[in-house]
Amino acid sequence: MSDNRRSFLKKSALLGLTGLAGGLIGKESINNLEAVSNQLSSSDPLFVLPKLPFAYDALEPFIDKKTMEIHHTKHHQGYIDKLNAERKKSNINMDADDAGKCMSVDSKTSDLIRNNLGGYYNHCLFWTLLKPNPERKENRPVGKLAEAITKDFKFPEELQKEFSEKANKIFGSGWCWLIADEKNNLKVVTTSNQDNPLMKVVPENGRPVLVLDLWEHAFYLKYQNRRPEYISNWWHLINWEMADKLFTGK
Ligand SMILES: [Fe+2]
Repeated sequence: MSDNRRSFLKKSALLGLTGLAGGLIGKESINNLEAVSNQLSSSDPLFVLPKLPFAYDALEPFIDKKTMEIHHTKHHQGYIDKLNAERKKSNINMDADDAGKCMSVDSKTSDLIRNNLGGYYNHCLFWTLLKPNPERKENRPVGKLAEAITKDFKFPEELQKEFSEKANKIFGSGWCWLIADEKNNLKVVTTSNQDNPLMKVVPENGRPVLVLDLWEHAFYLKYQNRRPEYISNWWHLINWEMADKLFTGK
């Protein structure tokens, strides 16, 4: 990967975790995310659980309070605890920022670091790309991202159709992503386990724009085997303003 490409991916991928959240979420959450960023820049980083930019019950009726609470405090925290315990035993550069760490994951990286770094990073992105919508208001892409979706998919509904089909086809646990390449072309891809499109170990790299958690812990309490219903309802909750910022890097 060239330095330009690395820089390009890193710039955008970082935005989901730090400064970009500024205009979209509360001051407390901003401070918390900045604290995360500062800690990650130290030579001996301690990974910490970011606060959610909304209450656990704020995503009702689409994602229930209990699921959100367990997902955040148990699952996300669990990846962080394991990552902290193993962070000094990896082949990746822990001085790099979050995205840089993910981009250095290769075939020599231990499964433990690969899975828990991905678990940490993917969930941070996932939270920032969610937005309460209890009144089920129409929720459509905005800004430059909306234009790019029109260019590459013709209609947002076509993106939704392709994304949902690929999400539904994931066998076992994984994530579905909308990614952008260096020329801002959009593509829907999936990853297994806690891999993400920044890692060298996946077949298609790109900077994340949207992401959906397809692990059963994300939906099973409410939806049981009805994963398609969970996927369909997630479209009500997408934070398109944040997705646009991830896309444009501004
Ligand atoms: Fe998850």
